[in-house]
Amino acid sequence: MKAVIFDLDGVVVYTDAYHYKAWKKLSDDQGWAFDESLNDQLRGVSRMASLQVILDHNGIDLPEEKKVELATRKNEDYRAFLAGIDDTALVDGALDFIRALRTRGVKIGLGSSSKNAMMVLEKLGIDSLFDEIVTGKDISRSKPDPEIFVKGAQRLGVEPAETYVFEDAVSGVDAAQAGGMVAVGFGPSEGLDHADVRVMRFADLDVDTFVATGKPA
Ligand code: BG6
Ligand code: MG
Repeated sequence: MKAVIFDLDGVVVYTDAYHYKAWKKLSDDQGWAFDESLNDQLRGVSRMASLQVILDHNGIDLPEEKKVELATRKNEDYRAFLAGIDDTALVDGALDFIRALRTRGVKIGLGSSSKNAMMVLEKLGIDSLFDEIVTGKDISRSKPDPEIFVKGAQRLGVEPAETYVFEDAVSGVDAAQAGGMVAVGFGPSEGLDHADVRVMRFADLDVDTFVATGKPA
């Protein structure tokens, strides 16, 4: 293990809940069905692709400019929710775990599909914890394409096989595995059983064992 790349939403920060609230608000306004289980399918998926998943689920067809308008509205609501973000939004134990990895010489990357990722990191003052940051602004193909993690590993100067990826999304686990990395399925979302390692919370990890063996404890 030379490097660990973390997803942001749902792994380092509970912003996945804000994404959910913003899509739910849009769906309620439009009279569309939307629930937690559909939301799980949006984890790691880009904004426009997420809207398409909701539209397909509801059997709705819209012109491109209307889709852009609705996705923009969702993003404005999401950013309004972010305005009040503080340390309470940090996933329990995430920062301590990242710092412990750094102390042991493991390089740290961030790989988030979100175009808002940099803003979230800066608002929380945690951008300097990451040696390299790749976000939705740096990629042309969203997860499950491996582009984001391949770019991250390249920038960190490590081989994919030496890289572990923490992900709460099916699309993210798929992306990591497609890139030849070790996928750690993180958190309670369903559908992560094909991850190489399964971890529910950072408290379940023993850092020394993890760095030495890749096993949680
Ligand atoms: C991912 C989230 O991190 O970013 C998705 O898991 C989200 O839910 C995606 O759709 C894109 O985010 P944004 O902020 O660019 O709309
Ligand atoms: Mg996520």
